[in-house]
Amino acid sequence: MSDKPVALVTGCSTGVGLYTAIRLAEAGYKAVATMRDVSKQQALFDEAANAGVEIEVRPLDVCHQASIDTAVAAVMAAHGRIDLLVNNAGAGFLGSVEHTGDADLRRTMETNFFGVWNLTRAVLPHMRAQGSGRIISVTSVGGLLGQPFNEAYCAAKFAVEGMMEGLAPLAAQFGVQVCLVEPGPINTEFVASVRSTSQDALAAMAEPYATLAQRYMASSGNVFATYGQTGDDIARIIADLAVAEGPDFRTITSDFAKAMVASKVVDPTGNSVIKIFNDRLKG
Ligand SMILES: NC(=O)c1ccc[n+]([C@@H]2O[C@H](COP(=O)([O-])OP(=O)(O)OC[C@H]3O[C@@H](n4cnc5c(N)ncnc54)[C@H](OP(=O)(O)O)[C@@H]3O)[C@@H](O)[C@H]2O)c1
Repeated sequence: MSDKPVALVTGCSTGVGLYTAIRLAEAGYKAVATMRDVSKQQALFDEAANAGVEIEVRPLDVCHQASIDTAVAAVMAAHGRIDLLVNNAGAGFLGSVEHTGDADLRRTMETNFFGVWNLTRAVLPHMRAQGSGRIISVTSVGGLLGQPFNEAYCAAKFAVEGMMEGLAPLAAQFGVQVCLVEPGPINTEFVASVRSTSQDALAAMAEPYATLAQRYMASSGNVFATYGQTGDDIARIIADLAVAEGPDFRTITSDFAKAMVASKVVDPTGNSVIKIFNDRLKG
């Protein structure tokens, strides 16, 4: 049994997940950093050495139930408890409905939604038995506002939002707090990964989509350059949320992201959200 609270974080090879593991270790957690390919662990160990903390790395591919079951069982066997689950692993896909084939759609849903569902379902009984725990899921502004060329990704993040909003009041009955972290743009490996996974769909894109996609990506590039946070910015927010008394259900991570979401909340017609992205498509 660990003498520290135990945190399990997904997607720790890069970006938000990597820094979340570090910040949680600094905050006093036994940080179990998981990644689907543990040969990528060196960057995490280098940052951990800089920060003077110890991180435990375990394999976990959120798209495979056997991997989820093995990882949860291993953490329970080693430490006897899981106090915090951070559902961070995620991946985007660029392509509108017409360009998103079945394999890309399913991979996007598997990574961003089914993975979150299946891991949460595996961890929840242990937290319920403990009578305590916290589940923090990283969604996105794209979990609240649909965005062109990101239909599959947004559908998956919306799904997580619905799942967690439904679960939160229920889990609270047995001492488990459920929270969402909703970033706007973050300058991590994410965009490069999305472009690489989507390059065939983008290359095959004909008019009228091709020009719209070029404009949208140029405008989004400006948004990342102007308003992008760092992976560590988000990690610090997650670490604060992990230890907060009575944490908010929803944490939108920047003023830029809050302003975007406000357009949805204050306008029940939904027209303000459509206008934001219509303008981006105009370049
Ligand atoms: N970057 C943004 O602009 C942005 C904005 C809003 C929300 N988010 C969300 O923030 C979270 C973190 O993203 P990030 O910006 O840190 O991006 P990132 O640097 O690309 O990190 C994504 C992580 O997820 C992992 N991953 C992907 N598929 C996986 C799978 N099947 N099983 C386990 N891990 C898997 C990746 O592992 P590999 O190295 O093996 O690919 C990587 O460790 C994601 O949920 C993302 O949707 C990102």
